[in-house]
Amino acid sequence: MAKTSFSCSACGASFSKWSGRCEGCGEWNTISEDKGLSSGPSKKSLGIKRGRTIPLTDLATRETPPPRSCCGVGELDRVLGGGLVAASAILVGGDPGIGKSTLLLQAAARFAQSGVKTIYVSGEEASAQVRMRAQRLGLADAPVQLAAETNLRDILTTLEAERPQLAIIDSIQTMWADHVDSAPGSVSQVRAAAHELTTFAKRNGVSIIMVGHVTKDGQIAGPRVVEHMVDTVLYFEGERGHQFRILRAVKNRFGPADEIGVFEMTGGGLAEVINPSALFLSERGEPSPGSVVFAGIEGTRPVLVEMQALIAPSPHSQPRRAVVGWDSSRLAMILAVLEARCGIPFAGLDVYLNVAGGMKISEPAADLAVAAALLSAREDVALPADTVVFGEISLSGALRPAPQTENRLKEAQKLGFTAAIAPGGSKTVPVTGLNLRKSSDLAGFVGEFFGAG
Ligand code: TYD
Ligand code: MG
Repeated sequence: MAKTSFSCSACGASFSKWSGRCEGCGEWNTISEDKGLSSGPSKKSLGIKRGRTIPLTDLATRETPPPRSCCGVGELDRVLGGGLVAASAILVGGDPGIGKSTLLLQAAARFAQSGVKTIYVSGEEASAQVRMRAQRLGLADAPVQLAAETNLRDILTTLEAERPQLAIIDSIQTMWADHVDSAPGSVSQVRAAAHELTTFAKRNGVSIIMVGHVTKDGQIAGPRVVEHMVDTVLYFEGERGHQFRILRAVKNRFGPADEIGVFEMTGGGLAEVINPSALFLSERGEPSPGSVVFAGIEGTRPVLVEMQALIAPSPHSQPRRAVVGWDSSRLAMILAVLEARCGIPFAGLDVYLNVAGGMKISEPAADLAVAAALLSAREDVALPADTVVFGEISLSGALRPAPQTENRLKEAQKLGFTAAIAPGGSKTVPVTGLNLRKSSDLAGFVGEFFGAG
């Protein structure tokens, strides 16, 4: 008898029985039956064909690193880890309307122009629509092959016949495999389509880029499973109101994760931003209380961003804590440390924290910059505008040095900053024209720069 299985459309966890609430992610009404998947072979059965193994030592001498091709969009090539690896499977996730199709059409055109045979398969738009977009982007002459198709079998047949080096599938949620008996976009369909495409990529030496839409809670709809199948997972993020878009590698078998590429959405498509720090700081005016520049590292590159805090007496019994671009539990921690170790209370005050430019920061080294912004807002004292801040705060109130101090300082100096505040244990690297000031704990930092503590 075929075994029935159920899976959650939010997190992809699978279960042997149905329930109203997913034990994996806690979502309600997301569990449905996986239809049409044959039950796997029983544990006892053995395969008919004997597999082949190769000694590791043999491989080491013969195999060279996988060949890579660059498309010339520097920000994309770098996020991929130095170009597109042959026979790799890549997932590009992001909110609907953020610019995934635009980015990939531009990338397709650039790859095709640099001699990589490229097919762009659209399951969402007709070929004429894709062509119109290409015209708008000034790429109508690029030698890209277009296909408007959603049937997986037809797509694989086309790829087999055309033998491209790169195939772009926009999007994985519109694909349907006819051996799976459920609607496109369901967990079973997305899983089957991603699996077949990934296997096809490996067998035939074709690189495949799949687009995946993200649901409102930040997961690619249903198919978290897709993340495990592919070699590289990139997220395209940005705030709707901002023109900046950030392509972030969250998994990469062929390069560093956490690398970012910065783009600007213009009337003529996405433009690369070569110097993101200059862009993120471009809207800064006079020094103002609550604004502090953080010298951060994103992937392999230093990026300066402005942290903005606003503190106001709260009319509510439970004061508000609102954060954009940073972790809210980390903010709670910093407020607690400021209160416990420096005697600076935030009770009865609403606290708002914003990372300017629509950037998302996850580095612990931003702690000190956040604390500085909070103190500056609370005390109504502006830090000198030519100063950058970085360092991690521990629960004891001690400051821990951040990695890559030298890169942070050099970037700050390059952008015209003349002073940096860093944890006491940081390596002293003389950077011409930059005055490095150190504090070993938070209380000392507060005393020195805000005259309290
Ligand atoms: P799109 O690539 O269709 O998003 P996704 O594939 O992620 O759903 O991008 C759509 C948005 O981008 C749309 O709101 C309009 C904007 N856009 C520009 O601002 N300039 C352009 O040149 C293009 C093509 C799109
Ligand atoms: Mg799209």
